[in-house]
Amino acid sequence: MRLTLPTVLLGATLTSCQVPSFVSRDTPSSLASEIRVTLKPMVAGLEAPTWGQEMAPSVPEGWTGPIEDTYTHIRTSRNVVAITFDDGPHGENTPRLLDMLKARNIKATFYVVGDMIKYHPELLARMIAEGHEIGNHTVKHNSLARMSDESLLTELRACHEQIVAACGVPPKTMRPPGGAIKKSQKELMLKELGYPTILWSVDPLDWKRPGVDVVTSRIVNGAHPGGILLAHDLHKSTVDAMPATLDQLLAKGFEFVTISQLIAMDEKPPELTKTPETLTKSSKVSTDSPSSDTMTISNQAKSAP
Ligand code: NI
Repeated sequence: MRLTLPTVLLGATLTSCQVPSFVSRDTPSSLASEIRVTLKPMVAGLEAPTWGQEMAPSVPEGWTGPIEDTYTHIRTSRNVVAITFDDGPHGENTPRLLDMLKARNIKATFYVVGDMIKYHPELLARMIAEGHEIGNHTVKHNSLARMSDESLLTELRACHEQIVAACGVPPKTMRPPGGAIKKSQKELMLKELGYPTILWSVDPLDWKRPGVDVVTSRIVNGAHPGGILLAHDLHKSTVDAMPATLDQLLAKGFEFVTISQLIAMDEKPPELTKTPETLTKSSKVSTDSPSSDTMTISNQAKSAP
């Protein structure tokens, strides 16, 4: 089915990804606080959503479950990061960025917006051809947090179909505009669409255009094993910062993978292998602690400027 897409001017509808004040550009002070002992249910439906179409079941490589409903980073000792670029594709900045990535053999993940895809669908095919991954960043880049479940699913399905139409590869993950999303919505998207929600652990606030050198230093200094790096190919200044950023990360020994590859590398919490007695004790601690969402926001709020 061919979707009829709105023709609203981009400048009026697109805002930056970063809105929440609780999101810090700093790396979380202790990744250990993120480790949870709750045994998560196995999640069916990791295959790309089909919405009634007949499609052979397929589980993304390495995704054996349980998949969490949210990732800001993964737990790993490997010197690996996923760099993500949001709000494109942009007709000038994105091809320039793709050239930079290709020259360094770096694979990235692009969270694309439907209202941008319609102008440059060919760029999605190029991303796939060059080994990158594409994720769902909605059609209109409006905040999802206040949407009804029905509206949210409609918005994401429409962007999903645009991505498939442009490049033939269904997205496996999503990123909410502004990072604004409710826990219940994350669970809904994982259940109904198979999408884990991808946030980030390193935010250079590049959309504020702090200067090329500042963007580079924030990303390079914030990068950590398992980190998810946030940036925006919508902005020229961000792309201008990439040669130095990428070169410095490579010089520090970081390996770049896409988001799906990163999730597949997530090392399970050590508590899961402990004895039932230990688990009971740990569970009690966990019960007394804030939920993972609350904890993440709380930690970030402490370090926010
Ligand atoms: Ni965005």
